[in-house]
Amino acid sequence: MSQMQNQAAPVKSNSQYDVIIIGAGASGLYCALTAGRRGRRVLVLDHANKAGKKILMSGGGRCNFTNYFVEPEHFIGANQHFCKSALSRYPSWEFIGMVEAHKIAYHEREHGQLFCDDSAQDILTMLLDECSAVGVQVKLNAQVESVQAIENDKNARFELLTTKQLSKKEKQERKESGNQTKLPQTGYRCESLVVATGGLSIPTMGASGLGYELAQQFEHTLVATDASLVPFTFTDKTGELIRALAGISLPVIASNERISFKLPVLFTHRGLSGPAMLQLSNYWQIGETISINLLPNIDMTMLFLAHKKSHPRQLIRTVLADYTDSALPKKLLAALQTHLWDDIKDTELANIKDERLTELGTTLNGWQLKPSGTEGYRTAEVTRGGVKTNEVSSKTMQSSFQDGLYFIGEVLDVTGWLGGYNFQWAWASGFVCGEVV
Ligand code: FDA
Repeated sequence: MSQMQNQAAPVKSNSQYDVIIIGAGASGLYCALTAGRRGRRVLVLDHANKAGKKILMSGGGRCNFTNYFVEPEHFIGANQHFCKSALSRYPSWEFIGMVEAHKIAYHEREHGQLFCDDSAQDILTMLLDECSAVGVQVKLNAQVESVQAIENDKNARFELLTTKQLSKKEKQERKESGNQTKLPQTGYRCESLVVATGGLSIPTMGASGLGYELAQQFEHTLVATDASLVPFTFTDKTGELIRALAGISLPVIASNERISFKLPVLFTHRGLSGPAMLQLSNYWQIGETISINLLPNIDMTMLFLAHKKSHPRQLIRTVLADYTDSALPKKLLAALQTHLWDDIKDTELANIKDERLTELGTTLNGWQLKPSGTEGYRTAEVTRGGVKTNEVSSKTMQSSFQDGLYFIGEVLDVTGWLGGYNFQWAWASGFVCGEVV
């Protein structure tokens, strides 16, 4: 996107709105319906061919739309305090109230997570119905070509130019017919412009960097972005071990120096996934080690040393065999043996030094792993980082540099934990913004 690009293309109209929201995702639609209820004339623009694509794919198709227990501690960002105001003004029961009013059946899963009984489509339909009830217009396939602040219009602060986002087929047809004419542009003017373009994760679902580009155009600073709530990958020997165990899931304590989570880990063909890993990824930087307590309910060093006294002729695998049904799958035990104590696998406990047993116990209660990276934006649920929140009002989401410009949702440097927190942030930031635009 550039302010100069496509200047020669014809401009069709100059429709005027009170509010234009770029992004028909979770935060954009919530902001739209809130502003629409106040009688504002709202247009939502999206370059995708469908609104709310991420809502539809969320929560395995059942949308974990919020959480009973929402605290500022469930969010990360350079300014930890930024999210507090919006979250307290729009608590999760507000959204639950709307879900109930629309008679959408839902259920609670562990840790207060709320999911639709049937389909994420119910949430999207609810948002679109609420928008249409208050006259919000949603225009899809709209590629934003430029955004400019204007000064000579007492009813508008911004002018936008869009072109039609062509489908793959249409692009191909244009190419084949040798059509090189510029696509006609549509012009819009608005008093308030809301950037709700989300993050960079899952580019195939419409993610783009437009929100960050607009932030920079208006002199905002970006906190470095990275894929988050994302599985870890491994390239070394550990990677081979992990891949060989694909499919195994077990409850662990996953931690680093900053945080720990008692949740399941899942071994996959690409690395380590599951809730424990996704949560930890929010707090992980490249090059750092993570620690996995494979038997969180047992002090393994104490157990080995006690068994050495009481059953000196036992082997390590025999001690651990007691736990293979409950905590440690047999396949994992066999692989760990090859990886961690192959040299003493047939040695009786009596003949293994206490130091070695202590070392092994410590490893089982805190397996140190160094991920080579993550699966990246291709599979990440969210983007960490984004528009620096110190430059945005926490009460209204308005830019500190440009009157009438707002940022909401994931484009901001606010990232929630797994468990419905990212949607809760989208609804809450969309709501407080929709109240003032
Ligand atoms: P969102 O991504 O929803 O919307 C942004 C919109 O902007 C999109 O419609 C996009 O097409 C549009 N856009 C982007 N660039 C544009 C451009 N250049 N021009 C015009 N439009 C543009 N969270 C949670 O709380 N519970 C859950 O169950 C899940 N599950 C989940 C699963 C998967 C697979 C993913 C990828 C993500 C989740 N999330 C989640 C995260 C959640 O989906 C996410 O945090 C919110 O959708 C963010 O809302 P936003 O409105 O900020 O962006």
